[in-house]
Amino acid sequence: MSASEHTDTMRHVISITDLTNAEIEEIFALADDAESLRKEKPARDHIMATLFYEPSTRTRLSFESAMHRLGGGVISCADMRASSAAKGESLADTAKVVSSYADVLVVRHPWDGAVRAMAEHADVSVINAGDGRHEHPTQTLCDLYTLRKEKGELKGLTVVVCGDLKNGRTIHSLVYALARFGANVVTLAAAGMELPQYVVERMESAYGYSLSPLVANDLGAVVSETDALYLTPKQPHQLALFTQMDSAIQLRLSTLASNLRYDAFYMTRKQKERIKEGANGGNYPTIGDEFLKEKRFKDTVVMHPLPRVDELAPELDRDKRGIYFKQAAYGVPVRMALLKFLSDRNQAKAGAPVTHVSLYQSPEPSGPHCVNANCVTVAETGSARRRYEILAGGPGGALILSCVYCDYRFKVQLVGDLKTKRYCAYDISLRATVGEWLEKNQLAVFNSIKEAEELGYEPYKISGLRIVMDNLEIQAAVESMSRDILAECQDTDGLLLLGVRTQGSVLARRIAAQMAKQKKRKYEVGEIDIYGSDEEIRRISLADPDAGPLNLRDREIVLVDDVIYTGRTIKDALSIIFRSGRPKRVRLAALIDRGHREVPVKPNFVGKHIPSSERERVRVKLRATEQGENDEAVIYSIINPSESASAPANTPLQSS
Ligand code: NCD
Repeated sequence: MSASEHTDTMRHVISITDLTNAEIEEIFALADDAESLRKEKPARDHIMATLFYEPSTRTRLSFESAMHRLGGGVISCADMRASSAAKGESLADTAKVVSSYADVLVVRHPWDGAVRAMAEHADVSVINAGDGRHEHPTQTLCDLYTLRKEKGELKGLTVVVCGDLKNGRTIHSLVYALARFGANVVTLAAAGMELPQYVVERMESAYGYSLSPLVANDLGAVVSETDALYLTPKQPHQLALFTQMDSAIQLRLSTLASNLRYDAFYMTRKQKERIKEGANGGNYPTIGDEFLKEKRFKDTVVMHPLPRVDELAPELDRDKRGIYFKQAAYGVPVRMALLKFLSDRNQAKAGAPVTHVSLYQSPEPSGPHCVNANCVTVAETGSARRRYEILAGGPGGALILSCVYCDYRFKVQLVGDLKTKRYCAYDISLRATVGEWLEKNQLAVFNSIKEAEELGYEPYKISGLRIVMDNLEIQAAVESMSRDILAECQDTDGLLLLGVRTQGSVLARRIAAQMAKQKKRKYEVGEIDIYGSDEEIRRISLADPDAGPLNLRDREIVLVDDVIYTGRTIKDALSIIFRSGRPKRVRLAALIDRGHREVPVKPNFVGKHIPSSERERVRVKLRATEQGENDEAVIYSIINPSESASAPANTPLQSS
């Protein structure tokens, strides 16, 4: 197919979600009959280009072998670092150029979303052979095919995914696919390498999965010091909402665990090349020969996308349960089937199954940037237009944008109206107005006040401003919360104050300082970053660069935030906490409780109750250092943002 024949119906496989379950079954049926494809040679006049910007053995060679077996030709750059990329050629240009040399491009790249960016500029089908930490859909096809061959139906299987679940792209594609086929997933992450929150949230929102800690002592035979979590369709309980793990829940979870049959262990290596040096110390899970002796694992197969380092005992190679070499061998028939499938679909101009998502793109020339530093939209702005899916735009929720390229999501802090050139901090009081701006393509989103002002936006005027807590009152509230925490805490040695970034962490630090003053000893403080950053939980006191990830297991945790309103932030924070280790107890401290709740969380320690309506905004301003202005909490509304063209206020609004 030549470039001029390019149509909108061109199929790409960038994410595993680009294929429906029925299509995956169709590909598997073709793979089952790979022998016929080999005889038929349906790709006789087709050329595949492999563009690998990162090392590969299996993926590349099996793709190339597959194309040869289909009767097609293969062109390739032996090393993309020796291609024009080294001279600074953009991904967009490379995609455009190579499209006229080949009928299908297979691309591996170290940046998240790079392959999607190339697909947007290519005139032929593009297949993702691994993009950064994001996805590796064709590995997942091989994994599912192998599982199905070994275990029959995927529905109802329980697969334990182990190791580096944060940086392993094969894991991300795999868990989505397992969820879609109705399998259960147990996660056994190395400390600090848990499944990213955006993946967990997608499992919840798209596939109705919920996450619960699993008290699975059986897994101790394989991995020590690692918490298991169980992702399963529609469990009756939602553990993330319990701020205390009482014994009844523990018991229920143990029962749940003891009834589980583990069908497969999917092991991965630590993705060293994607980890900052010094980060993520500690034990890495391995499957040792004890595993083979355990009766309850007698039918459990062990998989690995390979390359392995030392995660698997050599004895496994000789055991029938070690199926990773088979899994690699299936790479050829499965990729033959995929190439054949794509070529047929493109010929039929069938197009991809339609999905309706509302995408946001800023009307300003440079939209808000993605929070993932490894995202293609950050690394190479020219090849990818910053576009986001809007999540949780529903009632009461924060406004969340999810990057189309890398799936990272972040909370919108500042919004502006293109027409009036006014901006303000986003909160629930603006929900309807922002909806209108979005509809009229007038919604601007900014990363900072500086950015808004540089683009010529001025702040909205505010009305009804009043101080609801002054400096002294905030100080008194911090003192009384500190006293209450100390009085109620059963285990002060294991106490950890975890502040929600940013204001919550300032408060957590202050509470810890108060407690230290009273008890003449230090308390550990951490910060939890719900939307965005790479490290969701980090230590912010007793800083020791070699201390490794913050340990939550069996700790008493007090989660600290400035204002609690809908409860959604707290729900997300709890979900991250339970995913990162199993604490003994989690309690909640909030400076201000606004009193409206969408999810059932109740603060245990409150500075002040300030019942307030949806139209009102409550902001806490805390001086970050000892010098500087005073602390205060204010309440106000902003003047009719949808029509207002009135004079700007003197003081810009602070985002909290
Ligand atoms: C994987 C990859 O590249 O993501 N390898 C593969 O394709 N078989 C896994 C890895 O590198 O660990």
